[in-house]
Amino acid sequence: MNLEDKKTILSKIPNGLFITTAKDGEKGTGAAISFVTQISIDPSYVALSIRKNTSFYTTALNNKYLSVHLPSKEQTSIVSSFFKIKEQSSNSINGYNFTWSKLGNPILDDLPMILEVEINQIVDVGDHPIFICEIVNSILRKNVDMLTMTDTNWHYGG
Ligand SMILES: Cc1cc2nc3c(=O)[nH]c(=O)nc-3n(C[C@H](O)[C@H](O)[C@H](O)COP(=O)(O)O)c2cc1C
Repeated sequence: MNLEDKKTILSKIPNGLFITTAKDGEKGTGAAISFVTQISIDPSYVALSIRKNTSFYTTALNNKYLSVHLPSKEQTSIVSSFFKIKEQSSNSINGYNFTWSKLGNPILDDLPMILEVEINQIVDVGDHPIFICEIVNSILRKNVDMLTMTDTNWHYGG
């Protein structure tokens, strides 16, 4: 198999950009992820692939709930900030303020569309185990088009 061709073909698969957050002790934490897709309608499930040995993977394993934020097309700065968490507190992550949801998820103030999910199953496969999650709450602050990989010059996968 030609590995470069494989990488090129895989890069054509449309991917959105998301900020997933979770409770980390008394603080909030998160990560910017692109491997997210809906996998069931009724009940509504999404699958998130989270890279092993990252701090967010460890946090996700310790939580029942996660939140998944969908950014608008203009929100590249906040998304790129979540490639690396440098500052965490009880009300902000990397300087971005959040409030705690009833389920205990950090909900970022600035994001227009948010899903809260309950982890149903973790499929430990490959380098990004799949978190199969049921959608248990949705927060629609503004109905806008979301940021996707093709809106940026970022690459992930291959
Ligand atoms: C464009 C892009 C897409 C990414 N997509 C994912 C993803 O789908 N899943 C994932 O676990 N990490 C993804 N990452 C990596 C995370 O954003 C982040 O770098 C990693 O969780 C940080 O690890 P740490 O928490 O150990 O510092 C992506 C990174 C980039 C630049």
